[in-house]
Amino acid sequence: RSENGTHSILSEKVHSQIDTHRDYGGVVPELAAREHLRNLPLLTSAAMKEAGASFQDLDLIAVTTGPGLKGSLLSGMLFASGLATANCLPLIPVNHIEAHVLSVLLENPKLPFPFLSLVVSGGHTELQHVKGIGNYTLLARTTDDAAGEAFDKSAKLLDLPYPGGPALAKLADAFSGQSRFELPRVMLKQPGFSFSGLKTAIALLIRNQESLLQDLQLLQEVSHSIQAGIVEVLVRKVKRAIRHTGCNTLAVCGGVSANEHLRKALREIPDVQCHFPAHRHCMDNGTMIALTGYLRTVNILPQAPFEATPRWPIETHSDIGAV
Ligand code: KG4
Ligand code: ZN
Repeated sequence: RSENGTHSILSEKVHSQIDTHRDYGGVVPELAAREHLRNLPLLTSAAMKEAGASFQDLDLIAVTTGPGLKGSLLSGMLFASGLATANCLPLIPVNHIEAHVLSVLLENPKLPFPFLSLVVSGGHTELQHVKGIGNYTLLARTTDDAAGEAFDKSAKLLDLPYPGGPALAKLADAFSGQSRFELPRVMLKQPGFSFSGLKTAIALLIRNQESLLQDLQLLQEVSHSIQAGIVEVLVRKVKRAIRHTGCNTLAVCGGVSANEHLRKALREIPDVQCHFPAHRHCMDNGTMIALTGYLRTVNILPQAPFEATPRWPIETHSDIGAV
Protein backbone atom coordinates (compact mmCIF):
# COMPACT_ATOMS: atom_id res chain seq x y z
CA ARG A 1 0.00 0.00 0.00
CA SER A 2 1.25 3.49 -0.83
CA GLU A 3 -0.03 6.66 0.80
CA ASN A 4 1.41 10.20 1.00
CA GLY A 5 4.68 9.10 -0.59
CA THR A 6 5.37 6.34 1.94
CA HIS A 7 4.87 2.64 1.48
CA SER A 8 3.72 -0.04 3.83
CA ILE A 9 4.08 -3.73 3.08
CA LEU A 10 0.87 -5.59 3.92
CA SER A 11 2.31 -8.98 3.11
CA GLU A 12 5.22 -10.48 1.15
CA LYS A 13 5.96 -14.05 0.19
CA VAL A 14 9.05 -15.49 -1.45
CA HIS A 15 9.69 -19.08 -2.45
CA SER A 16 13.37 -19.96 -2.72
CA GLN A 17 14.28 -22.44 -5.47
CA ILE A 18 17.67 -23.23 -3.95
CA ASP A 19 16.67 -26.81 -3.04
CA THR A 20 15.47 -27.47 -6.61
CA HIS A 21 18.72 -26.39 -8.25
CA ARG A 22 21.29 -27.41 -5.61
CA ASP A 23 22.01 -30.86 -7.08
CA TYR A 24 22.73 -29.29 -10.47
CA GLY A 25 25.11 -26.63 -9.08
CA GLY A 26 23.20 -23.80 -10.78
CA VAL A 27 19.80 -22.68 -12.08
CA VAL A 28 18.20 -25.14 -14.55
CA PRO A 29 16.00 -22.86 -16.73
CA GLU A 30 13.27 -25.44 -17.46
CA LEU A 31 12.92 -26.42 -13.81
CA ALA A 32 12.88 -22.76 -12.75
CA ALA A 33 9.96 -21.98 -15.11
CA ARG A 34 7.95 -24.99 -13.92
CA GLU A 35 8.57 -24.17 -10.25
CA HIS A 36 7.32 -20.61 -10.87
CA LEU A 37 4.10 -21.90 -12.44
CA ARG A 38 3.51 -24.25 -9.53
CA ASN A 39 4.31 -21.76 -6.76
CA LEU A 40 2.83 -18.49 -8.05
CA PRO A 41 -0.84 -19.39 -7.30
CA LEU A 42 0.12 -20.70 -3.84
CA LEU A 43 2.21 -17.65 -2.93
CA THR A 44 -0.41 -15.24 -4.28
CA SER A 45 -3.21 -16.83 -2.21
CA ALA A 46 -1.01 -16.83 0.90
CA ALA A 47 -0.04 -13.15 0.39
CA MET A 48 -3.64 -12.04 -0.22
CA LYS A 49 -4.81 -13.94 2.85
CA GLU A 50 -2.10 -12.44 5.05
CA ALA A 51 -2.91 -8.93 3.77
CA GLY A 52 -6.60 -9.53 4.41
CA ALA A 53 -7.23 -8.26 0.86
CA SER A 54 -9.38 -9.37 -2.06
CA PHE A 55 -8.60 -8.75 -5.74
CA GLN A 56 -11.20 -5.93 -5.75
CA ASP A 57 -8.93 -4.04 -3.31
CA LEU A 58 -6.03 -3.96 -5.79
CA ASP A 59 -5.23 -1.02 -8.08
CA LEU A 60 -2.79 -2.78 -10.38
CA ILE A 61 -0.77 -5.94 -10.96
CA ALA A 62 2.95 -5.52 -11.71
CA VAL A 63 5.01 -8.30 -13.26
CA THR A 64 8.65 -8.72 -14.33
CA THR A 65 8.93 -8.94 -18.11
CA GLY A 66 12.76 -8.79 -18.28
CA PRO A 67 15.66 -9.09 -18.17
CA GLY A 68 15.93 -12.76 -17.23
CA LEU A 69 15.35 -16.32 -18.41
CA LYS A 70 12.62 -16.36 -21.02
CA GLY A 71 10.78 -19.40 -19.60
CA SER A 72 10.65 -17.94 -16.09
CA LEU A 73 9.53 -14.55 -17.42
CA LEU A 74 6.75 -16.20 -19.43
CA SER A 75 5.52 -18.21 -16.40
CA GLY A 76 5.12 -15.03 -14.36
CA MET A 77 3.62 -13.05 -17.25
CA LEU A 78 1.00 -15.71 -18.05
CA PHE A 79 -0.06 -15.97 -14.43
CA ALA A 80 -0.18 -12.18 -13.93
CA SER A 81 -2.08 -11.54 -17.15
CA GLY A 82 -4.68 -14.22 -16.20
CA LEU A 83 -5.19 -12.53 -12.83
CA ALA A 84 -5.37 -9.04 -14.33
CA THR A 85 -7.88 -10.08 -17.02
CA ALA A 86 -10.10 -12.00 -14.59
CA ASN A 87 -10.21 -9.05 -12.18
CA CYS A 88 -10.22 -6.17 -14.73
CA LEU A 89 -6.97 -4.73 -13.35
CA PRO A 90 -4.21 -2.83 -15.17
CA LEU A 91 -1.15 -4.98 -15.85
CA ILE A 92 2.19 -3.16 -15.56
CA PRO A 93 5.37 -4.66 -17.09
CA VAL A 94 8.39 -4.06 -14.84
CA ASN A 95 12.12 -4.19 -15.52
CA HIS A 96 13.76 -6.43 -12.91
CA ILE A 97 16.91 -4.25 -12.71
CA GLU A 98 14.94 -1.02 -12.36
CA ALA A 99 13.11 -2.75 -9.50
CA HIS A 100 16.45 -3.57 -7.81
CA VAL A 101 17.51 0.10 -8.23
CA LEU A 102 14.24 1.35 -6.68
CA SER A 103 14.22 -1.35 -3.95
CA VAL A 104 16.21 1.10 -1.79
CA LEU A 105 13.03 3.22 -1.59
CA LEU A 106 11.21 0.40 0.23
CA GLU A 107 13.05 1.26 3.43
CA ASN A 108 13.85 4.88 2.46
CA PRO A 109 10.78 6.20 0.61
CA LYS A 110 11.92 9.83 0.98
CA LEU A 111 15.48 9.30 -0.32
CA PRO A 112 16.06 12.41 -2.46
CA PHE A 113 17.18 12.27 -6.09
CA PRO A 114 19.76 12.24 -7.53
CA PHE A 115 21.63 9.26 -6.13
CA LEU A 116 24.17 6.78 -7.44
CA SER A 117 22.99 3.19 -7.70
CA LEU A 118 25.39 0.26 -7.64
CA VAL A 119 23.54 -2.80 -8.96
CA VAL A 120 25.29 -6.02 -7.97
CA SER A 121 23.20 -9.08 -8.77
CA GLY A 122 23.79 -12.54 -10.22
CA GLY A 123 23.46 -11.33 -13.81
CA HIS A 124 24.18 -7.60 -13.62
CA THR A 125 26.85 -5.22 -12.37
CA GLU A 126 26.33 -1.60 -13.21
CA LEU A 127 26.54 1.92 -11.87
CA GLN A 128 23.64 4.22 -12.67
CA HIS A 129 23.17 7.90 -11.85
CA VAL A 130 19.52 7.97 -10.79
CA LYS A 131 18.02 11.43 -11.36
CA GLY A 132 14.38 10.40 -10.88
CA ILE A 133 12.01 7.48 -11.44
CA GLY A 134 12.67 6.34 -15.01
CA ASN A 135 15.62 8.75 -15.44
CA TYR A 136 18.86 6.77 -15.35
CA THR A 137 22.32 7.58 -16.74
CA LEU A 138 24.55 4.54 -17.17
CA LEU A 139 28.09 5.19 -15.88
CA ALA A 140 29.58 1.67 -16.00
CA ARG A 141 28.54 -1.87 -16.80
CA THR A 142 30.31 -5.22 -16.79
CA THR A 143 31.68 -6.42 -20.09
CA ASP A 144 31.47 -10.09 -19.03
CA ASP A 145 30.73 -11.69 -15.65
CA ALA A 146 28.63 -9.88 -13.07
CA ALA A 147 29.82 -9.55 -9.45
CA GLY A 148 27.39 -12.26 -8.30
CA GLU A 149 28.58 -14.50 -11.11
CA ALA A 150 32.19 -13.87 -10.05
CA PHE A 151 31.29 -15.01 -6.52
CA ASP A 152 29.31 -18.03 -7.82
CA LYS A 153 31.89 -19.18 -10.40
CA SER A 154 34.78 -18.78 -7.95
CA ALA A 155 32.81 -20.79 -5.39
CA LYS A 156 32.25 -23.53 -7.98
CA LEU A 157 35.99 -23.67 -8.66
CA LEU A 158 36.50 -24.11 -4.92
CA ASP A 159 33.91 -26.95 -4.87
CA LEU A 160 31.61 -25.01 -2.54
CA PRO A 161 27.92 -25.88 -2.42
CA TYR A 162 25.32 -23.91 -4.43
CA PRO A 163 24.51 -21.05 -4.03
CA GLY A 164 28.17 -20.16 -4.08
CA GLY A 165 28.15 -16.43 -3.25
CA PRO A 166 26.98 -16.64 0.38
CA ALA A 167 29.06 -19.84 0.95
CA LEU A 168 32.23 -18.12 -0.28
CA ALA A 169 31.46 -14.98 1.77
CA LYS A 170 31.06 -17.11 4.91
CA LEU A 171 34.47 -18.73 4.42
CA ALA A 172 36.06 -15.37 3.58
CA ASP A 173 34.70 -13.74 6.74
CA ALA A 174 36.14 -16.55 8.88
CA PHE A 175 39.68 -15.49 7.89
CA SER A 176 41.34 -12.47 9.41
CA GLY A 177 44.80 -11.21 8.62
CA GLN A 178 46.87 -10.80 5.48
CA SER A 179 46.11 -13.45 2.86
CA ARG A 180 49.06 -15.01 0.99
CA PHE A 181 47.04 -15.28 -2.21
CA GLU A 182 47.48 -12.34 -4.56
CA LEU A 183 44.66 -11.98 -7.09
CA PRO A 184 44.37 -9.36 -9.86
CA ARG A 185 42.22 -6.24 -9.45
CA VAL A 186 40.53 -6.47 -12.83
CA MET A 187 39.61 -3.47 -15.04
CA LEU A 188 40.92 -0.76 -12.76
CA LYS A 189 42.77 0.92 -15.62
CA GLN A 190 39.88 0.77 -18.13
CA PRO A 191 36.32 1.99 -17.75
CA GLY A 192 33.55 -0.47 -16.83
CA PHE A 193 33.66 -3.74 -14.90
CA SER A 194 35.04 -7.15 -15.86
CA PHE A 195 35.46 -10.13 -13.57
CA SER A 196 36.37 -12.97 -15.91
CA GLY A 197 40.14 -12.39 -15.40
CA LEU A 198 39.66 -13.13 -11.72
CA LYS A 199 38.08 -16.49 -12.53
CA THR A 200 41.05 -17.43 -14.72
CA ALA A 201 43.50 -16.43 -11.96
CA ILE A 202 41.64 -18.62 -9.44
CA ALA A 203 41.54 -21.58 -11.82
CA LEU A 204 45.34 -21.27 -12.25
CA LEU A 205 45.87 -20.99 -8.52
CA ILE A 206 43.92 -24.19 -7.89
CA ARG A 207 45.71 -26.03 -10.69
CA ASN A 208 49.05 -25.15 -9.07
CA GLN A 209 47.91 -26.05 -5.57
CA GLU A 210 45.21 -28.72 -5.60
CA SER A 211 45.61 -29.44 -1.87
CA LEU A 212 43.94 -26.08 -1.34
CA LEU A 213 40.50 -27.65 -1.82
CA GLN A 214 41.02 -30.09 1.06
CA ASP A 215 42.32 -27.60 3.61
CA LEU A 216 39.71 -25.49 5.40
CA GLN A 217 42.19 -22.81 6.48
CA LEU A 218 43.57 -22.41 2.96
CA LEU A 219 40.02 -22.30 1.59
CA GLN A 220 39.16 -19.52 4.01
CA GLU A 221 42.30 -17.63 3.06
CA VAL A 222 41.75 -17.87 -0.69
CA SER A 223 38.04 -17.00 -0.28
CA HIS A 224 39.13 -13.91 1.65
CA SER A 225 41.34 -12.86 -1.29
CA ILE A 226 38.56 -13.47 -3.82
CA GLN A 227 36.03 -11.47 -1.83
CA ALA A 228 38.56 -8.67 -1.27
CA GLY A 229 39.35 -8.63 -5.02
CA ILE A 230 35.71 -8.27 -6.06
CA VAL A 231 34.87 -5.74 -3.36
CA GLU A 232 37.93 -3.54 -4.00
CA VAL A 233 37.07 -3.18 -7.68
CA LEU A 234 33.47 -2.21 -6.83
CA VAL A 235 34.61 0.33 -4.23
CA ARG A 236 37.20 1.94 -6.54
CA LYS A 237 34.59 2.34 -9.31
CA VAL A 238 32.09 3.85 -6.88
CA LYS A 239 34.74 6.39 -5.80
CA ARG A 240 35.28 7.33 -9.45
CA ALA A 241 31.52 7.67 -9.98
CA ILE A 242 31.32 10.01 -6.97
CA ARG A 243 34.16 12.15 -8.34
CA HIS A 244 32.67 12.18 -11.83
CA THR A 245 29.10 13.13 -10.84
CA GLY A 246 29.72 15.05 -7.61
CA CYS A 247 26.91 12.95 -6.14
CA ASN A 248 27.75 11.38 -2.78
CA THR A 249 24.53 9.51 -1.99
CA LEU A 250 24.90 5.85 -2.84
CA ALA A 251 22.26 3.13 -2.95
CA VAL A 252 23.42 -0.46 -3.35
CA CYS A 253 21.10 -3.21 -4.53
CA GLY A 254 20.90 -6.78 -5.86
CA GLY A 255 21.88 -10.05 -4.20
CA VAL A 256 25.56 -9.15 -3.63
CA SER A 257 24.51 -6.04 -1.65
CA ALA A 258 23.79 -8.50 1.19
CA ASN A 259 27.57 -9.05 1.42
CA GLU A 260 28.80 -7.65 4.74
CA HIS A 261 32.37 -6.97 3.59
CA LEU A 262 31.07 -4.93 0.63
CA ARG A 263 28.73 -2.97 2.93
CA LYS A 264 31.54 -2.18 5.34
CA ALA A 265 33.98 -1.13 2.59
CA LEU A 266 31.42 1.15 0.93
CA ARG A 267 30.48 2.74 4.26
CA GLU A 268 34.16 3.55 4.83
CA ILE A 269 34.34 5.78 1.73
CA PRO A 270 34.76 9.31 3.17
CA ASP A 271 31.74 11.64 3.03
CA VAL A 272 29.44 9.09 1.44
CA GLN A 273 25.90 8.36 2.56
CA CYS A 274 25.24 4.68 1.88
CA HIS A 275 21.81 3.13 1.72
CA PHE A 276 21.09 -0.58 1.49
CA PRO A 277 17.78 -2.38 1.18
CA ALA A 278 16.83 -4.76 4.01
CA HIS A 279 18.49 -8.16 3.46
CA ARG A 280 15.25 -9.74 2.24
CA HIS A 281 14.92 -6.96 -0.35
CA CYS A 282 18.50 -7.40 -1.65
CA MET A 283 17.56 -10.82 -3.09
CA ASP A 284 14.92 -11.17 -5.80
CA ASN A 285 11.50 -10.37 -4.36
CA GLY A 286 8.03 -9.43 -5.52
CA THR A 287 7.77 -6.37 -3.26
CA MET A 288 10.28 -4.35 -5.31
CA ILE A 289 8.34 -5.27 -8.48
CA ALA A 290 5.06 -4.02 -6.95
CA LEU A 291 6.74 -0.76 -5.84
CA THR A 292 8.27 -0.15 -9.28
CA GLY A 293 4.96 -0.83 -11.07
CA TYR A 294 3.26 1.59 -8.71
CA LEU A 295 5.92 4.34 -9.00
CA ARG A 296 5.99 4.17 -12.80
CA THR A 297 2.20 4.38 -12.89
CA VAL A 298 1.84 7.41 -10.58
CA ASN A 299 4.68 9.16 -12.41
CA ILE A 300 2.86 8.49 -15.72
CA LEU A 301 5.91 6.92 -17.37
CA PRO A 302 5.66 5.14 -20.72
CA GLN A 303 4.88 1.43 -20.57
CA ALA A 304 7.10 -1.16 -22.22
CA PRO A 305 5.40 -3.62 -24.60
CA PHE A 306 4.03 -6.67 -22.77
CA GLU A 307 6.57 -9.18 -24.03
CA ALA A 308 9.26 -11.32 -22.40
CA THR A 309 12.50 -9.33 -22.87
CA PRO A 310 15.60 -11.33 -21.83
CA ARG A 311 17.90 -8.31 -22.45
CA TRP A 312 16.57 -4.92 -21.42
CA PRO A 313 18.92 -2.11 -20.29
CA ILE A 314 17.26 0.50 -18.04
CA GLU A 315 19.27 3.60 -18.91
CA THR A 316 17.61 6.58 -20.52
CA HIS A 317 20.99 8.31 -20.96
CA SER A 318 24.52 7.00 -21.27
CA ASP A 319 27.82 8.28 -19.94
CA ILE A 320 29.47 4.91 -20.41
CA GLY A 321 33.23 5.02 -20.24
CA ALA A 322 33.13 7.71 -17.54
CA VAL A 323 34.19 5.41 -14.73
O1 KG4 B 1 19.64 -10.19 -7.21
P1 KG4 B 1 19.74 -11.66 -7.00
O2 KG4 B 1 18.95 -12.26 -5.85
O3 KG4 B 1 19.35 -12.45 -8.28
C1 KG4 B 1 19.63 -11.97 -9.57
O4 KG4 B 1 18.85 -11.15 -10.07
O5 KG4 B 1 20.69 -12.37 -10.08
O6 KG4 B 1 21.31 -11.99 -6.81
C2 KG4 B 1 21.79 -13.29 -6.65
C3 KG4 B 1 23.30 -13.22 -6.54
C4 KG4 B 1 23.96 -14.60 -6.62
O7 KG4 B 1 25.05 -14.52 -7.52
C5 KG4 B 1 24.44 -14.84 -5.18
O8 KG4 B 1 25.56 -15.68 -5.09
C6 KG4 B 1 24.77 -13.43 -4.76
O9 KG4 B 1 23.70 -12.66 -5.28
N1 KG4 B 1 24.81 -13.27 -3.29
C7 KG4 B 1 25.95 -13.00 -2.60
C8 KG4 B 1 25.59 -12.94 -1.22
N2 KG4 B 1 24.25 -13.20 -1.12
C9 KG4 B 1 23.80 -13.40 -2.40
N3 KG4 B 1 27.22 -12.78 -3.00
C10 KG4 B 1 28.14 -12.50 -2.08
N4 KG4 B 1 27.87 -12.43 -0.75
C11 KG4 B 1 26.63 -12.65 -0.28
N5 KG4 B 1 26.39 -12.57 1.03
ZN1 ZN C 1 17.72 -9.87 -9.17
